[in-house]
Amino acid sequence: MKNIDTTVTQTESNRAAKSITDQFYEDVIAGLTETPKHLSSKYFYDANGDKLFQDLMNCDEYYPTYCELEIFSDKTADICKAITGNGDPFDLIELGAGDATKSAYLLKYLLDNKADFTYLPIDISSNVISYLNIALPITLPGLQIAGLNGEYFDMLEKAASISNKRKVLLFLGSNIGNMPVSEAEVFCGKLRSHLSPGDMLLVGFDLKKNPKTILAAYNDKEGITKRFNLNLLERINRELKGDFDINQFEHYPTYDPETGACKSYLVSLVDQKVSINNTATISFLKDEYIFMEISQKFTVAQTDKMAMDSAFKPIYHFYDSKKWFTDVIWVAE
Ligand code: AVI
Repeated sequence: MKNIDTTVTQTESNRAAKSITDQFYEDVIAGLTETPKHLSSKYFYDANGDKLFQDLMNCDEYYPTYCELEIFSDKTADICKAITGNGDPFDLIELGAGDATKSAYLLKYLLDNKADFTYLPIDISSNVISYLNIALPITLPGLQIAGLNGEYFDMLEKAASISNKRKVLLFLGSNIGNMPVSEAEVFCGKLRSHLSPGDMLLVGFDLKKNPKTILAAYNDKEGITKRFNLNLLERINRELKGDFDINQFEHYPTYDPETGACKSYLVSLVDQKVSINNTATISFLKDEYIFMEISQKFTVAQTDKMAMDSAFKPIYHFYDSKKWFTDVIWVAE
């Protein structure tokens, strides 16, 4: 199975594009008419957001990237041995693959060691999937790849419909932290329901550490995180005919060491009204905030409990040298 055709017809793609914009509009209006106001961080990632996120991953303060890269570069053999198991063929499915920098360490090692696997990266961004489908087989000759563009669970069903091999899911980069803990627990249960006993999940968790280190990662000196958050207002302007004046909003990150919740807000600097699509007007009071994102931090015990509560067994924990980040392997029971 090589380079499975995931092409959709023009009509199908137009229909999909329309419904994505409709959903974006509905979610934005629903979030901005609730109290407190909120927007979903899943909408950060348009082409500009992808670029800003790349910049963010390279900035000094944003430690999760280099911690997890250290794990993948230093523990490649151990991770690959754990996921290869007894050598039977498997599908390596990555949720939210991005540019696959970290997973590329695994892919190369697996190819060099003649593992029998197909790489199925899933991403909500069509730019990301087109890039991976073209670029990875060039840098990693012999790689069997079938990129899937869409929502995680829809694409997991699609993956199951094209192959019945053992599954190893990758969910890296502490993406799991972008859900409140209760939602992350439900999410893990839902992932488990798409897997069979013996399938595996490799998840990246950002761990609790000095609160100043965490806060600095979400308040970098260059202001990339600020632009990353404000880009969502600009995206609403671009795609939903909004008229946000981004100079009238301020980025405000917080970290609570007790709960491990790191949260980002945009605070309105003045009383103001914002029009969206000429169909809705949203009023902001001075100092009113929009909740933008949670980046939850964990203890290892919490991650183990999350595994067991969702019918997985934690079997390996890999750490960077500072023990700031962990990649754990859970097996479906
Ligand atoms: C994608 N996700 C894990 C990042 C995080 O750390 O929560 C997104 C991010 N937001 C601000 N900086 C990075």
